Amino acid sequence: MCGIAGFIGKEMAVPYLIDCLERLEYRGYDSSGIALCKKGSIEVTKRKGKLAELKKAINVKEKKNSCCGIGHTRWATHGSPTEKNAHPHMSEKGLFAIVHNGIIENYAELKNELISEGVTFSSQTDSEVIAQLFEKNYKDDFLISARKTLSRLEGAYAIAVICRDFPDRIFCARKGSPLVLCFGEKGGFISSDVTSLAGQSNEIYRLDDGECALVSSEGAEFFFSDMVPKEKLPEKLNISAEDAQKQGYEHFMLKEIFEQNQTAARTVHGHIRGDDIFFEGLDSLFDIASDIRRIAFIGCGSAYHVCLSAKYVTERLTGIYCSAEIASEWRYSDSPVDKSTLCVFISQSGETADTLAALVKAKASGALTLGIVNVPSSSLSVKSDFVIQTAAGAEIAVATTKAYTAQLITVYLIALRLAKEKDCVDKEDYVRYTEFIRRIPDGISEILACVPGQAQKIAEEICNVSQIYFIGRNTDYPAALEGALKLKEVSYIPCEAYPSGELKHGTISLIEKGTYVVALMGSSDVLAKTAGNVKEVKSRGARVIFVGNADRIRTDNYGNEDKILSLPDSENVFSALYESIALQLLAYYVAKMRGCDIDKPRNLAKSVTVE
Ligand code: G6P
Repeated sequence: MCGIAGFIGKEMAVPYLIDCLERLEYRGYDSSGIALCKKGSIEVTKRKGKLAELKKAINVKEKKNSCCGIGHTRWATHGSPTEKNAHPHMSEKGLFAIVHNGIIENYAELKNELISEGVTFSSQTDSEVIAQLFEKNYKDDFLISARKTLSRLEGAYAIAVICRDFPDRIFCARKGSPLVLCFGEKGGFISSDVTSLAGQSNEIYRLDDGECALVSSEGAEFFFSDMVPKEKLPEKLNISAEDAQKQGYEHFMLKEIFEQNQTAARTVHGHIRGDDIFFEGLDSLFDIASDIRRIAFIGCGSAYHVCLSAKYVTERLTGIYCSAEIASEWRYSDSPVDKSTLCVFISQSGETADTLAALVKAKASGALTLGIVNVPSSSLSVKSDFVIQTAAGAEIAVATTKAYTAQLITVYLIALRLAKEKDCVDKEDYVRYTEFIRRIPDGISEILACVPGQAQKIAEEICNVSQIYFIGRNTDYPAALEGALKLKEVSYIPCEAYPSGELKHGTISLIEKGTYVVALMGSSDVLAKTAGNVKEVKSRGARVIFVGNADRIRTDNYGNEDKILSLPDSENVFSALYESIALQLLAYYVAKMRGCDIDKPRNLAKSVTVE
């Protein structure tokens, strides 16, 4: 979604702002801009489209004239993606410029009020009211103006503000949208995304909700939103500069796919000791495992697909009734929740607006909450009763790969530990499952060695088709959903996934000669059943791509040798993991052959911080 950059230092601001905006590009945007402050004036440059347009528009004079500036990449919500609606927004008399992430829910009321007082607006955005309020509330004190302005805003925001009269300060504030600061040799950096600060400092300050900061080149003063000062300590930044670079790979997506044997190893070794599965800080949760009557797994996008896998696996291993919930739906549902319910929130960013709102709802209903997050100190990890930090490291490509598989392995481990606590898994099965999970990194290495060639060959064949269907049953089904999502989001080929047995209830009418169907057959429990569904589509002319153990598929004469993404054997209950990785590779190569913008697919955002 939108990205915020800020720099105040001893050197010219433009190169640092552009560098930060480039690092924010992966989050998705449709326009961008910067505002530079020097005593006496603020200069704003904005452009629609790619950052390259903004770079072309910034002239040499601007490069030289200011050490203090803010920048923004916008993902349009209120008002179309035009130059006028791009940030930064200036106040009418040019005293302030602001950049904003989030949504000001009462902007219409504030805008009408300001218009009735004679203020002229120049954009259709909700954000512009912030700039106009800063100016209206200003006499000669930046912080008083900030306090009065923040007290009027409803909704979510992260803002960075510059004032013409204070060319050596940037004000910033956070409520519901992330904002981080750090200080290096060159000065102070502000960003909405911690990844973009990699390499600038080893320490960062993460603003909490309701916190503000007045930033200079030397450091920052921190305040509550009523401008009462507060102490704040820095935290270690655990992202290296290399994490944020492609390191020889053509795309971040490919790099991140190929990192999955290492991220899986970190996840596995981080939680298995001998035959024991442990999670730091979760003992008291496992102690009350027998009191848990229901588990709701809640997330959005690919994280929702992990939720669905978690439901199948946890029900199979523990016998606890589980459900998988799309956060944006669940938050408005009447689903019964009480203190015997464990709500598990799964999120890479820990900042997805709907997932956070679902967490608030769960807590209000008295449920126990567990967050599984990849970004330390994110809102979800701070607000959940219990937290598991996934070990995927920074993920840059919009389409998630390594964070998704780290989540998947984590939910497998939780299910197995719960099963042990509840005494509902045989010792022999427990050891076998644990041993399988321990060997997952090797299984992934095998896939990364063998499947790319197969995926490229299939990609050549399917890269120009107009639609693709994915089918899978039971534990294979969530991987079918994820495979379809991955392929459509990066290649723009319409893809749909169905439970294998559901296809004949309507969608089979779309199958005709030459239609491609991807059949997930990683779980031998249901392989024969899905094979039956494969026969149904084949007899209507479909071409089938198989995903599973090639030997088994060939021996049983289910499929033709050419179109198999061949996987190592998996425990049936964990079949989604290997299948998903093979389908990530297929999605990547199809998108590459179609010349798509793989790391930044159109209209998508890495972290969806609006409802
Ligand atoms: C966006 C991303 C997806 C991600 C989803 C949920 O749609 O593009 O990759 O699965 O948000 O994000 P989260 O950060 O909560 O996992």
